Amino acid sequence: MTQDKILCDIGFIGLGVMGKNLVLNLADNGFNIAAFDLSDEKVQAVIAQDEVENTTGTPRVYGCSSYTELLSQLKAPHLIVLSVPAGAPVDQVCENLIGAGIQPDDIIIDTGNSLWLDTVAREEKYKSNFLLFSSAVSGGEVGARFGPSLMPSGSPYAWARVKPIWEAIAAKVDAKTGKPLERTEPGQVITEGEPCAAYIGPAGAGHYVKMVHNGIEYADMQIICEAYHVLKSGLNLSGDEIADIFSKWNDGPLDSYLMEISVEVLRHKSSDTDTPLVELILDKAGQKGTGLWTAMSSLEVGCPAPTIAQAVYARSISSFKELRTQASSLLTGPQQAPLTAAEQEEVIEQLHDAMYCAKICAYAQGFQLMKLAAKEHGWTLDFASIAKIWRAGCIIRAAFLQSIMNAYQQNENLDNLLLDAYFVKELNDRQLNWRKAICSATMQGVPIGALSSSLAYYDSMRSETLPANLLQAQRDFFGAHTFERIDKASGKKYHVQWSTKERETILVAS
Ligand code: 6PG
Repeated sequence: MTQDKILCDIGFIGLGVMGKNLVLNLADNGFNIAAFDLSDEKVQAVIAQDEVENTTGTPRVYGCSSYTELLSQLKAPHLIVLSVPAGAPVDQVCENLIGAGIQPDDIIIDTGNSLWLDTVAREEKYKSNFLLFSSAVSGGEVGARFGPSLMPSGSPYAWARVKPIWEAIAAKVDAKTGKPLERTEPGQVITEGEPCAAYIGPAGAGHYVKMVHNGIEYADMQIICEAYHVLKSGLNLSGDEIADIFSKWNDGPLDSYLMEISVEVLRHKSSDTDTPLVELILDKAGQKGTGLWTAMSSLEVGCPAPTIAQAVYARSISSFKELRTQASSLLTGPQQAPLTAAEQEEVIEQLHDAMYCAKICAYAQGFQLMKLAAKEHGWTLDFASIAKIWRAGCIIRAAFLQSIMNAYQQNENLDNLLLDAYFVKELNDRQLNWRKAICSATMQGVPIGALSSSLAYYDSMRSETLPANLLQAQRDFFGAHTFERIDKASGKKYHVQWSTKERETILVAS
């Protein structure tokens, strides 16, 4: 198809895996795209792909070889989507667009995994040059192509322009069932259903929410990996046997995209050896930083999120392969007799409940973190809406997000999911099995940091009394940090001369 000069609806910069697929998704939904990448090969690749998939008879993607050409090929005011790595590349592109003549009423949408604080700073920095809008995207390659989950934030004026485009390309959910409406073929468009795109709030809010999504993603993945480890090393099951168990579980409350892909991964055999490929993969986990940011933010905000933090630590420990190899020949674990078939069945059932309970805790932590951060930063986050747009398209999509949505629809001020009646029952019904699964894995010597730290979180959250009384006494002992007394009016601070055995506490502040 020849590329006659026309003015396009959207400019697109960054044609890597996510960018290329977002371009094709936009094209399927009727938008013309002027596409640019520093690599001309990538520009040609997206045009070639569009030629294969395009059945309309007219080109939908126009290649550009410079920022200036990109601007000249767009309708004004310009709307430009960035899909470039987070950090310096975003600023580099912004500066280049300023150099190419971008105007103050033009809109740039950053779709990368930018640090939310960078987004806030950028909106301010570039406000006289153009309108920076941000919209985190989740869903990986397939999500980008056939319907991602989108977390837009920034200027409401920009959102009014972006909304119809975002709602068109987003994943859709059947309003009645809450189930994703599948879109799998190029050219296919879904116009009904609820789009997984909702305005999150002012600059930075969308990237914060996406960051927490990724923190939950880390926890979700780690929980599945620990269950795999128990089944593999504790029970000596094969990849196919574990896949069968996961597949069965994926029909119940654990139904999620991450379980689904884990089944596929476990069944995948290496082409050269016919062994499961997963067994040939080096056990050192990578990370790009969003899980770490979530854990750091939870510490800063003062929100307990141990399952998420533990998932980050688990990746760190995995990366010390040489150290672990050294320690493995020095440090002993428990000696356990192999389990009987009946015991194995019990462990498998208990493990299911442990995974589900830990998963509820991970989401409870993520949602509480968003709530506390929103308070700190003056955002009004709609948690039912966030759960709603995570039901399809994104990596953590899971059937039980419908229950999270219901919980926040019933009580928009819910402080923690652990207080919602539905989740209270789910946890109460399963907590005993959860404990048994932890005991059994511990006695097998299998590390289950996410499953067990979630249980400690659960037990802490349900404890009216914690040993922080002793901790306060210790602090007062060595640093005169004072304490409150439960038998006196709240807010009054006391100190005592511990080492002199002085029994009288002194009121030091009220
Ligand atoms: C998504 C993913 C996506 C990316 C992660 C990977 O929602 O589509 O979260 O953003 O795959 O950033 O992160 P790690 O490399 O840190 O695992």
